[in-house]
Amino acid sequence: MADSWPLQLLTFLLSFTLWGYSVAMSDDGRVLLQFRATLSSGGGDAALSSWAGGKGPCMDQNVSAWTGVYCENGNVSTLQLENMGLSGKLDLDILTGLLGLRSLSFSNNSFEGPVPDFTKLPALKSIYLSMNRFSGEIPDGMFSAMRALKKVWLSHNNLSGRIPSSLTVPTKLMEVGLDGNKFEGKLPDLRQPELRMVNVSYNNLEGPIPERLSNMSASLFEGNKNLCGAPLGVSCTPSKKLAPALLVGIILIAVKVLTLLIGLIGFLLRRRAPKGKTTTDKLQPGKSKRIEDLEAASVEKGSADHDGEKKKVSKKEQGKLTFVAEGRRKFDMQDLLKASAEVLGSGNFGSSYKATLVDAPAVVVKRFKEMNGVGREDFQEHMRRLGRLSHSNLLPLVAYYYRKEEKLLITEFVPKGSLAHMLHGNRGSTESPLDWPTRLNIVKGVARGLAYLYEELPMLTVPHGHLKSSNVLLDQSLAPLLADYALVPVMNKATASKVMVAYKSPECARHGKPSKKSDVWCFGILILEILTGEFPANHLTQGKAGAGDLASWVSRIASEERASPVFDKNMKGTENNEGEMLKLLQIAMACCETDDESRWELMTVLEKIEEIKGE
Ligand SMILES: *[C@@H]1O[C@H](CO)[C@@H](O)[C@H](O)[C@H]1NC(C)=O
Ligand SMILES: *[C@@H]1O[C@H](CO)[C@@H](O)[C@H](O)[C@H]1NC(C)=O
Ligand SMILES: *[C@@H]1O[C@H](CO)[C@@H](O)[C@H](O)[C@H]1NC(C)=O
Ligand SMILES: *[C@@H]1O[C@H](CO)[C@@H](O)[C@H](O)[C@H]1NC(C)=O
Ligand SMILES: *[C@@H]1O[C@H](CO)[C@@H](O)[C@H](O)[C@H]1NC(C)=O
Ligand SMILES: *[C@@H]1O[C@H](CO)[C@@H](O)[C@H](O)[C@H]1NC(C)=O
Repeated sequence: MADSWPLQLLTFLLSFTLWGYSVAMSDDGRVLLQFRATLSSGGGDAALSSWAGGKGPCMDQNVSAWTGVYCENGNVSTLQLENMGLSGKLDLDILTGLLGLRSLSFSNNSFEGPVPDFTKLPALKSIYLSMNRFSGEIPDGMFSAMRALKKVWLSHNNLSGRIPSSLTVPTKLMEVGLDGNKFEGKLPDLRQPELRMVNVSYNNLEGPIPERLSNMSASLFEGNKNLCGAPLGVSCTPSKKLAPALLVGIILIAVKVLTLLIGLIGFLLRRRAPKGKTTTDKLQPGKSKRIEDLEAASVEKGSADHDGEKKKVSKKEQGKLTFVAEGRRKFDMQDLLKASAEVLGSGNFGSSYKATLVDAPAVVVKRFKEMNGVGREDFQEHMRRLGRLSHSNLLPLVAYYYRKEEKLLITEFVPKGSLAHMLHGNRGSTESPLDWPTRLNIVKGVARGLAYLYEELPMLTVPHGHLKSSNVLLDQSLAPLLADYALVPVMNKATASKVMVAYKSPECARHGKPSKKSDVWCFGILILEILTGEFPANHLTQGKAGAGDLASWVSRIASEERASPVFDKNMKGTENNEGEMLKLLQIAMACCETDDESRWELMTVLEKIEEIKGE
């Protein structure tokens, strides 16, 4: 008892004293005294002994008698507590009471633990925490609300993890100091116009230096694990790291493999093409293209001799196929070269071949030349993404082959061929034309496959991009399989806009780029083609027709419909189904609505189509 009362008295006196202050003192003064109480006494208290008495920190509008405190118009604007040997954890929550606070510095102290949470002080313009012992990771969103931030210095601490990507948010950012920590991963793509200093030297960073920083001094980036690009003299393409001799060797092997492949295909072409088993593009006036192809192949005449040499080439040199589909028997380039090949046709992108493998199902190999829209890594990632797709109305991608100049995409072979072939290629032949129930089923399957693509690839503006009857294949039961989908991201931009069907949409003519509803428009054209049995205008002119031709094709059909039914005269099974056929025709017309704003969403189209009754 006797021991404790002086302590109680002391506490009483102390609180009385603090109470005395708070009556007289400004809000800012009370906040600062509370904050001082949270600082560990490593001499800090002594350094801040001037924080006491009077009216508070801002005695005059812009002048303060308190150490490290700066005022502006009567409010504390800057707290600069540097070189004071302060230690412990730094908690800034109390400082949210300083409404005018714009700058904080605690450089060269001994604070430890995580970097304090700045999200509660979103008005700060500068933060200086260099030369402390802060450690751990900074939450990725730390800077996302800091609209006013100009300078952030965290140099020479013990910070790890990734540099927060939210550092790209503050638009006025000028200085960033992160040097002498343990940051890893990539540098966020900083591109603020006023940036003049970004020191990230001596960390464990990797990857490309953002372009905006490429004219800064190299010393700002040195001492990292794997940073590359300007201003460092390290190229970002991995091949550069290979010894030049090795590089030349690899190029030679690649050229040899390609020559072999072309030679072999050319050889097989000359041997087999006359038998005329080509199917898919038979009716398209693509003759000139095919001849071009044959010519190209025969120019390689000399290289056909390589066929004989083939066995001398070791397996390793044959180039590598990458399989993206699960559970399929793997084969390699050599198997492909050994397979008997048959040209299927030449589309706008390049030729495709059927390769019949020894003891494995036949595959289709499509060659793409204009497929350099993205670099190798992004290409591979996109192919893996396509490989994960699985739907009963999608033709799965089996494997691919990557070279900068050329890509091969390998899919299953579908014996029945394409819808284009079935609609237009068989007049007078043994196979009977598709009847109404089959055509309706095909439309439903295409709608479902398309809806699946929209769902699985929401990041693509046009998830299919090239929907037309020659890219709809039919399986044994005449169910549709979509092919050549989701290739827009990897195609060369110029080729995509010249060739791909989505780029023929009216909105492309208006704004120069497709919209989320461009695939719907292509689908409308496809339904009209299925109903009328007519080739749409652009297919007849080898994809060179613009949006105008297709649009006028649609309006011609619409005006003819007013006079008499436009349905394909060869279509059987139409008796008592005229009502449903008309419904589908109206859906097709709604899909072909010129104004994409008022055109239906794909999901609406799908619902309406599912409502149409089959047999
Ligand atoms: C205080 O400084 C601000 C600018 O920082 C200035 O606009 C203001 O006039 C100054 N006030 C006084 C009383 O000096
Ligand atoms: C850091 O602060 C200490 C006092 O705590 C001082 O002696 C030293 O010179 C300061 N270092 C720098 C680089 O300012
Ligand atoms: C100073 O603080 C008061 C509230 O304490 C606020 O109303 C005023 O806008 C502040 N002045 C400046 C310049 O921030
Ligand atoms: C830095 O942090 C690591 C843990 O991330 C710790 O092991 C190490 O002791 C720290 N170094 C210093 C100098 O504080
Ligand atoms: C960048 O940081 C490193 C390491 O802390 C330092 O040596 C260098 O002087 C800094 N560069 C500039 C331009 O300040
Ligand atoms: C770097 O380029 C930017 C423009 O991209 C320019 O504003 C800045 O002044 C340049 N910095 C240097 C150090 O040349």
